[in-house]
Amino acid sequence: MTARIRPFRTGDAPHLAALVRRCLRETNGRDYPADVVDMMSARFTAERFVELSERRGIYVADDGRAVGTVSRDGNKVHMLFVDPGLSGGGIGRRLLRHVEELAAREGHAYMETGASVTAHTFYLRLGYSDVREDDTEFGADYTLRKPLRPVAR
Ligand SMILES: CC(C)(COP(=O)(O)OP(=O)(O)OC[C@H]1O[C@@H](n2cnc3c(N)ncnc32)[C@H](O)[C@@H]1OP(=O)(O)O)[C@@H](O)C(=O)NCCC(=O)NCCS
Repeated sequence: MTARIRPFRTGDAPHLAALVRRCLRETNGRDYPADVVDMMSARFTAERFVELSERRGIYVADDGRAVGTVSRDGNKVHMLFVDPGLSGGGIGRRLLRHVEELAAREGHAYMETGASVTAHTFYLRLGYSDVREDDTEFGADYTLRKPLRPVAR
């Protein structure tokens, strides 16, 4: 089944928190030590998703269950995660396109994201370029940007 992309509902919060924690363990766990994965996981609670949904647009890839998520704050991408069992299936690309289209329609000239080591190559592949690299408590954090095509309004 092709996942559809829809806005977050409060009832998604526990499923998304579990999905993100699984992603961190299975996908990011290949690039980060266990203590860093534990630190990252502690941040992604169901309550945090509900709280963030009041400030950001959160979107869910839904194929009968939540299989991916992305958040947007203007032209900033946050929290892009895809079910590890479905990685490489194009869900990440579709979620990213979804928020890029929304930002382009609002007139933003470029999209910006902060990428983990794990997602860095994914973003480069999808047309993003490095702007800077910062050292954080979680290791390297890359800032990347991609120009957006203007949308006729
Ligand atoms: C990064 C992530 C969102 C990618 O989602 P996905 O659904 O697997 O990605 P897609 O299938 O849409 O991939 C799109 C393209 O990027 C490539 N790609 C995906 N992940 C990649 C990776 N880690 N390294 C290199 N290329 C990658 C795919 O092969 C595909 O290439 P193509 O153009 O040849 O088709 C997913 O792996 C994930 O959830 N990672 C862990 C969480 C994370 O780090 N999120 C970012 C927070 S900053």
